[in-house]
Amino acid sequence: MKITVAGTGYVGLVTGVCLASKGHQVTCLDVDEEKVKTMQKGISPIYEPGLSELMQEYMDNLTFTTDYTDAYKDAEVIFIGVGTPEKSDGSANLSFVYQVAKQIARTAERDCVVVLKSTVPIGTNDKIEQYIHDKQIHDCRIYVASNPEFLAQGTAVRDTLYASRIVIGTDEKYPAEVLMHVYEKFDAPKINVGRRSAEMIKYASNDFLALKISYVNEIANLCETVGANVEEVTLGMGYDKRIGNHFLNAGIGYGGSCFPKDTKALSWLASFNDKEIRTVKAAIEVNDSQKLKLIKKARKYYDDFLFLNVAVLGCTFKPGTDDLREAPSLVNVPLLLEDGAYVRIWDPVGTENFKKRIPNGKIKYCDTIEEAITDADICFIFTEWDEVCNFDISKYKKLMRRPIVMDGRNCYALEQFEGSGITYGSIGRKTINSTEE
Ligand code: UDX
Repeated sequence: MKITVAGTGYVGLVTGVCLASKGHQVTCLDVDEEKVKTMQKGISPIYEPGLSELMQEYMDNLTFTTDYTDAYKDAEVIFIGVGTPEKSDGSANLSFVYQVAKQIARTAERDCVVVLKSTVPIGTNDKIEQYIHDKQIHDCRIYVASNPEFLAQGTAVRDTLYASRIVIGTDEKYPAEVLMHVYEKFDAPKINVGRRSAEMIKYASNDFLALKISYVNEIANLCETVGANVEEVTLGMGYDKRIGNHFLNAGIGYGGSCFPKDTKALSWLASFNDKEIRTVKAAIEVNDSQKLKLIKKARKYYDDFLFLNVAVLGCTFKPGTDDLREAPSLVNVPLLLEDGAYVRIWDPVGTENFKKRIPNGKIKYCDTIEEAITDADICFIFTEWDEVCNFDISKYKKLMRRPIVMDGRNCYALEQFEGSGITYGSIGRKTINSTEE
């Protein structure tokens, strides 16, 4: 089929490339000329494992352009995958979605299905359809359907090609059939629901996962107080199929482009409708305080970090991505700097973005973990990169001035630190204090 995808961020580009890999002719549209030039060379402008390879393999089925008239005029299906960033009141900013809708209304010349992949408040599909119908100039039928994405960064290609489910939100026969055809070659359960339900599925799913993480983080905090080990606790919980063993990892809080934004958006939507969604509100609060957990713990060893060498391992919101959105490092590093610490950061792919987010000439960026921890007075782990998890922990003792490791992602087994001469604090587990042994 002839498909156009508007927006080439994580959602749009991954969707476009995966659809091309199934034989569709896909035009990827973006306003950023530099980005388009990069993609025309077969290079992905975002770091996403497997994406560039798939892109290069199916370049014959892919076109990249900034010309929206050309991209929309005879497309059979138009996916909207542009961002819906958070506004200051927590609601979703839909200006990019409306911008695309306006361009479609002006340029689409044949019957087509506009598919909203971006995460949008419930009722947006209805409004977009009305908006397009009011503004359209050519005599053609433009349908609007919802098809939320569930891809996670770092595994986006796999999550799209082998989706847990494909949600097709429309009450009409034609768009449902078209979308079934689009996804014909995808081996995944396909469910056809109403548009508003589809929109809600996305928020309800993401917020449930955020809630699960915040719940487990609170359990972890309690474990520390009562002498239990959160990993043992979640191991025991996970065997219950009703609970499941995924998304039970305690840590210093969730980040990323979805959970923080979608929890706030649902909370906003509830209050806009004179309702309160207390569980989600609690998840947000717990997450905000969880992000500060490690620093609080570290204050046991230092009242403040003035003139201390502080190593930071990992600054992205999770491994496998260079994305920093809502990453715990963005809250913690400024606090360390404010305290007067000499911060050295190691991250395999996130440092360039970090420099842009927190421009500070005093931060030293390191090429190796060893470089970051040499002479350090304390080390914070914010991201569970493989390089950190597989690191020879005896080097913390060998290279640091004072070997105190504060691990926000439970990268190591506690036993590794018994008798190691290293003080090791983590989340939901006892602190191993073997510095003085
Ligand atoms: C998420 C959803 O998983 C995806 O389905 C949706 O479409 C977009 O949002 P993403 O934000 O890319 O994807 O990452 P995810 O792997 O879900 O992790 C989000 C955050 O939760 C990360 O900061 C991660 O460290 C944290 N997390 C995840 C935990 O703290 N504990 C866990 O057990 C799992």
